[in-house]
This record gives sequence, C-alpha cells and structure tokens, in this order.
Amino acid sequence: MANKQVKRCSHGVIDECALMRNRIINAKVRENSMGRVEGKVVIVSGGATGLGESHVRTLVGEGARVVLTDVKEEQGRAVAADLGDAVHFVTHDVTEEDGWRNVLRETLATFGGLDGLVNNAGVVVAGTIEELSLEDWRRIQSVNVDGTFLGCKIAVEGMKANGRKRGGSIINISSASGLYAKSTLAAYNTSKAAVTMLTKSVALHTGQYGIRCNSVHPGTVMTPMVQAFIDQSPDPEGGLEGMRLEHPMGTVGEPSDVSGIVLYLASDESKFATGGEYRIDGGLAL
Ligand SMILES: NC(=O)c1ccc[n+]([C@@H]2O[C@H](COP(=O)([O-])OP(=O)(O)OC[C@H]3O[C@@H](n4cnc5c(N)ncnc54)[C@H](O)[C@@H]3O)[C@@H](O)[C@H]2O)c1
Repeated sequence: MANKQVKRCSHGVIDECALMRNRIINAKVRENSMGRVEGKVVIVSGGATGLGESHVRTLVGEGARVVLTDVKEEQGRAVAADLGDAVHFVTHDVTEEDGWRNVLRETLATFGGLDGLVNNAGVVVAGTIEELSLEDWRRIQSVNVDGTFLGCKIAVEGMKANGRKRGGSIINISSASGLYAKSTLAAYNTSKAAVTMLTKSVALHTGQYGIRCNSVHPGTVMTPMVQAFIDQSPDPEGGLEGMRLEHPMGTVGEPSDVSGIVLYLASDESKFATGGEYRIDGGLAL
C-alpha cells in the first residue's frame, strides 16, 4: 500500500495504481489483438482505384502489408502515401511478364515474403460479336486473361518458397459475367469465364504446395469502371436503374462487399477453401 496514490476528481476518488494497471492491460490487449491478415504480405494489382483500392485499404486495416500495383502511377502513389509504411507502390502493367518479375522482386525485397495475390486489374469494353473489333477483343483478353495467368505464375513461384505449411492464397477477380452471358459483353464474358477455369486448374496443381486459388464473382459495383460505362450510355440515369433492377436484390453492390470476401480468402479462415467460385452479386448470376 506504500506506493498507492489517490487522486480526487469530480467523480470521486480514483486509484492511480488501478488506472495504471488498466492502461497496461489495455495496451497489452491492443498489442495482442491480431488483425485477420496480420503479418501477411499481399500483392493487389490494379489497386489504385475502384475495387482494388478498397481491397488494399481493407487488407491493411486488418494487419497486412500490401504491394499495390497499377498503371495509374499518380493515383497508386497517393493511396500508398495515405496508408504509410504498410503499402509499397510499384508501377506495373499486368500484361508484361517482366513487370510481374519486378513486382515479385520488389515484394520480396520490401516485405521479405509473399502470402497473397489479388489479381484484380481488369478492363471492360462492351460490344456484341458484330460490334467488337479484334483490337478490343485482344486488349480485354490481354489484361483480364494474360494478366491473371502471369500473376498466378509469379505468385506460385514466390509462394512455393514459403513451404507447404505457410503456403499462400491467390484470389482471382472474375465477375458474375464469368458465370452468365450477355450479348453485349462477348469479349468480357469470355475473359472472365477464362479466369474462372484458370483458377480451378491452378488450384488443382498448387494444392500440393499448400497454395490455394479461388475466384471472386462480383455483380455490379459502383466504381470508375462502371461509372464510365454508365456515362457512355445514351440514358445514364435509366442505365443505372436498369443495372439495379437486373440484380434480384434490387441494388448494386459496394466495394466493401467484395473486399469482405477478398479478406476472408486472404486470411487463414479460408485455409481449406480452394478452387471455389465466390459469388457476391446480389443474385445476378443465378
Ligand atoms: N465494378 C464492377 O461492377 C465489377 C464487377 C465484376 C467484376 N469486376 C472486376 O473487378 C476488377 C476491378 O474493377 P473496377 O470496377 O474496380 O475497375 P476500375 O477501372 O475502377 O479499376 C481497375 C484498375 O485496374 C487498373 N488497370 C487496368 N489495366 C491495367 C493493366 N494493364 N495493368 C495494371 N493495372 C491495370 C486500372 O488502372 C484501375 O486502377 C476488374 O477485374 C473487373 O473486371 C468489377
């Protein structure tokens, strides 16, 4: 009792020792409270805007260190600067193999390992088989399919070094459009269906290394990609309403809806989940 101090305040007598004990306990609780992806190192491609930015912010909020890559240098650097040391930005075009090699090198040099990859970068061009040019077709396949293929290849290389116990998680952002077709999305449908099947093939091969690979299938979510799509339509207001109504839930999604699934797949909560199609689409692809 000798060093016990008391202090009076408007609420009565406060035991300073008890207060100090509480402060120490609270600090320990904070110290020990683990984020859902605490300590994991995750690459997010196309992380400068839209869904990718949301994935980056969500993963960092739950304790991950993230390598954010994008062709949009200014926007990518701004997101990274906002989040501090937990994020490292790399300028990167997902269609280029050398670019992916550089991303892996930078990831290992900056954070010392690789636990997750979110193959998120993607583009959309609307058009029927009659309207689309070969150039449009190739551009979409190049970003959405070649980019995802190269990302998987590089991630397996990086994650294999972890050994089977630590393994890794590859998360391929496909789309509801990878599960059902529209006449006006011939190239996009094809690219996202390819991502769905590539995911299963990768999962079948990489189970032996403890590496999981799953695809995520969002319905419409308001992002710069969708905004541009709406702005180009002859009736933007009607276009947005039409998008809402085609979802059985009567609404479009929010970026955090998709990031919730990405977070689950990046975490050890999903350690037995591989080769799956994770729909987050308000029922759109049913
Ligand atoms: N928003 C939706 O409704 C929706 C629905 C289903 C699936 N998706 C998919 O989610 C992903 C993200 O879409 P979004 O809506 O956030 O789009 P977005 O256009 O807002 O963001 C895509 C990001 O990818 C980047 N990117 C494009 N090409 C690239 C390349 N070659 N290399 C590196 N980065 C590149 C862009 O710069 C951008 O920052 C895409 O794969 C998209 O197909 C989106």
